[in-house]
Amino acid sequence: MSTETIIQMQHVNKEYQMGDVTVRALRDLNLDIAAGELIVLLGPSGSGKTTTLNVIGGLDRPTAGHILVAGDDITGYNSKKLTQYRRQKMGFVFQFFNLIPTLTASENVEFALALVEKDGKRLQDKARDLLQMVGLNDRGDHFPSQLSGGEQQRVAIARALANQPPVILCDEPTGNLDVETGQRVLQVMRDLNHQRNTTVVLVTHNSVIARMADRVVRLHNGSIADISENVHPAPVSELSW
Ligand SMILES: Nc1ncnc2c1ncn2[C@@H]1O[C@H](COP(=O)(O)OP(=O)(O)OP(=O)(O)O)[C@@H](O)[C@H]1O
Ligand SMILES: [Mg+2]
Repeated sequence: MSTETIIQMQHVNKEYQMGDVTVRALRDLNLDIAAGELIVLLGPSGSGKTTTLNVIGGLDRPTAGHILVAGDDITGYNSKKLTQYRRQKMGFVFQFFNLIPTLTASENVEFALALVEKDGKRLQDKARDLLQMVGLNDRGDHFPSQLSGGEQQRVAIARALANQPPVILCDEPTGNLDVETGQRVLQVMRDLNHQRNTTVVLVTHNSVIARMADRVVRLHNGSIADISENVHPAPVSELSW
């Protein structure tokens, strides 16, 4: 694992105003994430996991504090720069795959690629390579409704990888998958991490899944309760939940 820091969260706070009530979703979060690290954010419902991903990914802004990505403070970005940042630096994998139902698996991946790749032939080649990477080379022509849940999630991963982002953010990527298909999805994340040195930030409420991480950050009530290192991260094949 490289020791270069890619993400630095410094005194990050996020508050939501709900009428008279202030919800403190993140409370003074301080966290450094190393390039090439696979880190799991673990915590119960409402502990701030998704909020943390959203502020790292530039989908939402912290109320206070700073987030440095490769040394650049993204909290100072205007919305145009933030959009560019999301496209170039971040891949998102959400619990509910968010595939476009009227496009095939290939077209869903091409759709994301089209933001950067204008040449039609290269677009198709790249989409095929990406689907191959997640083990779906023979499913390119299937529409989302013709794919299993695990296959849909892997298309979502292929799409998130389209622009070769240095960081992938996954929110409960196995949330509604059975163990076997969930393992396949996690294996793709681990392979990517090993083969391309992609930094992976994976959110889960499941402590078994956390065993695959290089490091586990436990969130509680919007604060970091504990950070622990797995000296020997568990192989995905040994996880059962
Ligand atoms: N848009 C919002 N407006 C108001 N409060 C919000 C908003 N988004 C999140 N919250 C609150 O912030 C807190 C943290 O929410 P968050 O979604 O980060 O939790 P989580 O750890 O991802 O939970 P889960 O495991 O249920 O997905 C919760 O108390 C939630 O109710
Ligand atoms: Mg959440």
